[in-house]
Amino acid sequence: MSASQTLIRIAGGDTSFPCASDDTLLRAAQRAGLAFPYECNVGSCGNCRFELVEGDVEVLWPEAPGLSDKDRQRKRLLGCQTQPRGDCSIKLRLDARYAPQHLPRRLCAVLESSRPLTHDMSEFRFVLDEPQQFEPGQYALAYLPGVTGGRAYSMSNTAGDGRVWEFVVRRQPGGQGTRTLFDEVAPGTRIAIDGPYGMAWLRRDAARDILCLAGGSGLAPMLSIARGAMAEPRLAGSTLHFLYGGRTARDVCGEDILRELPGWGERLHYVPAISPVPGASVQGWSGAVGYLHEVALEQFGARLPGFEIYFAGPPAMATAVQRMLLDAKVPPDQIHFDQFY
Ligand SMILES: Cc1cc2nc3c(=O)[nH]c(=O)nc-3n(C[C@H](O)[C@H](O)[C@H](O)COP(=O)(O)OP(=O)(O)OC[C@H]3O[C@@H](n4cnc5c(N)ncnc54)[C@H](O)[C@@H]3O)c2cc1C
Ligand code: FES
Repeated sequence: MSASQTLIRIAGGDTSFPCASDDTLLRAAQRAGLAFPYECNVGSCGNCRFELVEGDVEVLWPEAPGLSDKDRQRKRLLGCQTQPRGDCSIKLRLDARYAPQHLPRRLCAVLESSRPLTHDMSEFRFVLDEPQQFEPGQYALAYLPGVTGGRAYSMSNTAGDGRVWEFVVRRQPGGQGTRTLFDEVAPGTRIAIDGPYGMAWLRRDAARDILCLAGGSGLAPMLSIARGAMAEPRLAGSTLHFLYGGRTARDVCGEDILRELPGWGERLHYVPAISPVPGASVQGWSGAVGYLHEVALEQFGARLPGFEIYFAGPPAMATAVQRMLLDAKVPPDQIHFDQFY
């Protein structure tokens, strides 16, 4: 059955936007250039909550963790998990911070190649049917064959002519999406991709020194930020410190990629860190030891408020980094991240 077009009206004003019946309210609003708040796009964060005033909808993932029992009692819905079944009226506060940098589009892409970076992380290079721009640090939704729901993956390259989007993905034990991507998506496979999304994009006009903190697969958007920053004339006076954290030495990566960038060793510096289980030997390891938020605090301390700071990684790391930065009095508008759920 082909998708039909519906109209979504935001109650209390003149704003409305078209939404195809196979699209979600959040993503259709973003495609129309509207600043519908969100973060993860995959039902986990709850930032895209809204109330349905009138009309019929279908909820794609009723058990999505982004809604609490209280939200459900109040009949709140997630914009990223709701498709319209006719014209609707919704209650929602648009917020200019969420305005799209580039209007996201639904496109097809072919896997050209992949290569391992560590024992459990690989880089996947997709070629899009049509060019689409994105900002360094943004992410896309990948629809993998046989997998329910899109999976969010950050681009690790910069857009260039918009044809090639590269991702660095960590294999998640027991994960449906990563098992499919690593074991079933061979070069030549076509998948649907939707993007770009995300608020943690490179601020090209913020001529401060830059601190990138990447934990695990958080490498992807931080590589993109580093690549973008080193190529941006407006940031030519900025130094970038790239801290990468892995559990053990075999999880650490990224240096060989950063070494290729202009400015390496001059205004681009890499600090690897490991956080082994207590009591484990760190013999043979010459980098930093500790969680990323501890290493960043130790290395930069009182200088932290002078940086533009980007970070990405698993929720526990993101929460610890965010708390440390706020305690260190870094102004919130200098802190940029999209949490990986
Ligand atoms: C903004 C963002 C950027 C990310 N960037 C990266 C990256 O660059 N590299 C990387 O390795 N990982 C990244 N992740 C994590 C990635 O999206 C996956 O969560 C991870 O790869 C595990 O996926 P999985 O399918 O293997 O695991 P699973 O446990 O099978 O799936 C977990 C993910 O699927 C979603 N999900 C589960 N069930 C459903 C359902 N029924 N309907 C809809 N959605 C469902 C969950 O919300 C969750 O996102 C990112 C996540 C976010 C939110
Ligand atoms: S739950 Fe919808 S954007 Fe996170």
